[in-house]
Amino acid sequence: MQAPIAIILAAGHGKRMLSDTAKVLHEVCGRPMISYVVEAARQAGCRSILVVVGHGADQVRSLLAPEPDIHFAEQSAQLGTGDAVKACKPLLRDYHGPALVLVGDEPLLRPEPLAELLKRQHDEHAACLLGTALVDDPTGFGRILRDSAGRFLRIVEQRDCTPEEAAIREVNPSCYVFDLPGLWDALDQLQTNNAQGEYYLTDAPALLQSLGRKVLAIPCLPPEDILGVNTRLHLAQANALMQSRIQNQLMTAGVTIVDPRNTYIDGRAQIGRDTIIWPFTVISGTARIGQRCRIGPFTHIRDGTTLADDVELGAFVEVSRSHLEPYARARHLAYIGDAHVGPAANFGAGAVIANFDGVAKSRTLIEAEAFIGAGSVLIAPTQIGSGATVGAGAVVTRNQFVPPGTTVVGVPARPLKPTSSASP
Ligand code: UD1
Ligand code: MG
Repeated sequence: MQAPIAIILAAGHGKRMLSDTAKVLHEVCGRPMISYVVEAARQAGCRSILVVVGHGADQVRSLLAPEPDIHFAEQSAQLGTGDAVKACKPLLRDYHGPALVLVGDEPLLRPEPLAELLKRQHDEHAACLLGTALVDDPTGFGRILRDSAGRFLRIVEQRDCTPEEAAIREVNPSCYVFDLPGLWDALDQLQTNNAQGEYYLTDAPALLQSLGRKVLAIPCLPPEDILGVNTRLHLAQANALMQSRIQNQLMTAGVTIVDPRNTYIDGRAQIGRDTIIWPFTVISGTARIGQRCRIGPFTHIRDGTTLADDVELGAFVEVSRSHLEPYARARHLAYIGDAHVGPAANFGAGAVIANFDGVAKSRTLIEAEAFIGAGSVLIAPTQIGSGATVGAGAVVTRNQFVPPGTTVVGVPARPLKPTSSASP
């Protein structure tokens, strides 16, 4: 079987979002929607991915351009989904084979049903294989019309539906496999005689059928995968569904999430067994957390952070681009940014690393078992030696090195003079 390509439509205005940001760049669980669709297409076996850009093209390109398997086609005016696919024709003139066509606003798509679609299209030698879904509430989707023998007839958009058609619960999730170059013949025949005056991709399957080609519609997409984000309400629904998917995977792998509804974890984060996450914790980006850590409540672990095993981060602690070694702890009210924190080092309540001077960020090294007192400030770059103590309220200034085993106090921090036992 020839490795397929994918076409992802992402040029639309997203009018219903009422946004200056391109719709497909709105984030679901910390990642732009289109990133999930790209990933699903890739994992379904597509070797190269063509993204159709138009509205907000520069934003979409700058997100995806670094990925070597992605190419772009420009749709200059947004005349409909059929026109959007047609914008790929110049780039695919010499391509013969299957194209998986998806829309960029369905972040919950998973690779397995898409791989199944590709396989069926190949096995059946179909000109078009349309994946469909059976849903309780078909609102917003195109409906699948079949004849009395159950054979596919056509797709009708919600706005063009009769009341009887509107009641159909088999819908078009916009997951198609088309054989190229055959699809171009159908796209050339698209008309705009519909409620929106657009060239609808949804007319292509019936047109191919009228040209005598084999078209199949197979209900192989799970309803929970096909939520299309057209409004902010849909965006919130997609976030909730994706979040529970992410958390279910983590819990299945042995992570305790005390209150799933009030916990927010990026799907790229990794968390080890027996780690416990208390409520109102946010774990962003590609954070990596070891085993047996205790996190939260109200903790923010940001991108670029790695926590070794047995780390403890408590209430109102934020950690960014830092690495914490085993048994390091910050139990209350701390900011740790751009730092390496050695094993069993302790951050007191209200201790903060001042890592940003308004221009640049600097790094801080805290060695093993260092004790950073309550309310202290470490102005980066700085280094606290192993077993050293920074007294409560001290300010360790730029480029200061606190030698191992010593204690510094005050503002600016100075070595604590040993008290003489001889003094009265
Ligand atoms: C579309 C389908 C509908 C299906 C639904 C599934 C059509 C006509 N309708 O409706 O049958 O049930 O998806 O989610 O295809 N786009 C472009 N260029 C355009 C217009 C749209 O690239 O000119 C892109 C959009 O960026 C978006 C996708 O195509 O990613 C779908 O467009 P959207 O307006 O969301 O279509 P729906 O109304 O959801
Ligand atoms: Mg849509």
